[in-house]
Amino acid sequence: MSRWLLTGGAGYIGAHVARDLRASGREVVIIDDLSTGLISRVPADVTVIEESILDTDVVRRALDGVTGVVHLAAKKAVGESVDQPMLYYRENVGGMVSLLQAMEDAGTRCLVYSSSAAVYGEPPWSPISEDSPLQPLSPYGETKVIGEWLVRDAAAARSHASTSVSPLSWASLRYFNVAGAGAPDLGDTSVNNLIPMVLDALDRGQAPQVFGTDYPTHDGSCVRDYIHVSDLAAAHVAAADLVESAEVAAVFNVGTGVGSSVLEVMAAVSEVVGRDVGAVAVQRRAGDPPELVASVDRIAAELGWSAQRTLRDMVASAYAAGR
Ligand code: WQD
Repeated sequence: MSRWLLTGGAGYIGAHVARDLRASGREVVIIDDLSTGLISRVPADVTVIEESILDTDVVRRALDGVTGVVHLAAKKAVGESVDQPMLYYRENVGGMVSLLQAMEDAGTRCLVYSSSAAVYGEPPWSPISEDSPLQPLSPYGETKVIGEWLVRDAAAARSHASTSVSPLSWASLRYFNVAGAGAPDLGDTSVNNLIPMVLDALDRGQAPQVFGTDYPTHDGSCVRDYIHVSDLAAAHVAAADLVESAEVAAVFNVGTGVGSSVLEVMAAVSEVVGRDVGAVAVQRRAGDPPELVASVDRIAAELGWSAQRTLRDMVASAYAAGR
């Protein structure tokens, strides 16, 4: 049985990945500073190191006997990153530098990195493939691009014949819009994204808002590729299998390949809650691209992975989780 270190394993996505990695027969150790993570999300028999990945010595010790790392620990709020860019560079870029240094020192062989569709910014075409230009529109997106560069550079250095360190096999997963919950106690508590924001508004007796209905899309509202967090977790296991079985340098979009508009999400929520949510149209939110949908050809061909769950599954499971 191989042992994997999961950074950010007490987070919304991490908690799902932890369960699936274990179900795949791997032993899992989590490092999480619990700045946003919840210990209640972690299965009782999984070891949690309550430390920041910025502490390279702590990470190095945690890597003892570890085959691979799934790296999710990061800040992820786009708006906050615009207001506090240094916080994002320190946590996300500094965190990756610290992790890669520790992995090199420990000779850790495999890495699966949590990247984001935010690396594309406003895409010139849709669906968007992994070879498209990287033009992030926020410090958050910039830190995810830099993270990918750092992994690539670390792997290149470790592959030189002159080094005694083992090569680094890695995959970067560019998540599109993650939603839903794999269990009622694993919901997204952050209220940063559309579905949690709609459910939160309903909880408070307010009307959910549609940010702009004059976009050049089929119904005027923005189109996104929503991916169920349980499907996303399965993609991590497929990526872990790949990096463990061969020496690879791979980048994959993780989405469904199908776009849904904000109005379609509102309709799905209305269906799930059993009444019209009464969404109101308001001004566009600055910086929102009209359409962002993943091309999923590569991940289907190379990982044999595809999303299984629908938008309705995402909304229903988020609702059941209270978010
Ligand atoms: C989705 C759509 C809004 C709230 C962001 C990051 C991305 C990734 C996921 C990662 C947009 C509209 C929203 C509301 C609305 N982050 N909306 N009413 O902006 O596509 O992506 O989260 O870790 O990097 O950029 O996601 O969920 O905020 O918005 O109409 O109350 O819903 O305008 O079109 P977004 P989102």
